Amino acid sequence: MEILTGDVNEEKHVPFIEETDKGYKVTVGKPALHPMKEKHYIQYIELYVNGDAVGKKELEAGDDPVAEFEVPKGKQVFARELCNIHGLWQGELD
Ligand SMILES: [Fe+2]
Repeated sequence: MEILTGDVNEEKHVPFIEETDKGYKVTVGKPALHPMKEKHYIQYIELYVNGDAVGKKELEAGDDPVAEFEVPKGKQVFARELCNIHGLWQGELD
């Protein structure tokens, strides 16, 4: 599957990553949260640290499109999310 990306400040599909005390928080939709409706929603959020997939949260309609991961910190951090209509998106920690 093609991996899409874009400007996290303008494109609501790009995962927005923040560092927390114990790991990372990923929000799908920095400009506005992505919809979580029956027909259009985020199916999962996945976190990668230093090239390894370290966590995955499955989501359902009605959930918030947000995932918090308690994981060791790393240098290279990115997240992916799958929208049931618009595909697979990736965003990196600045
Ligand atoms: Fe979407």
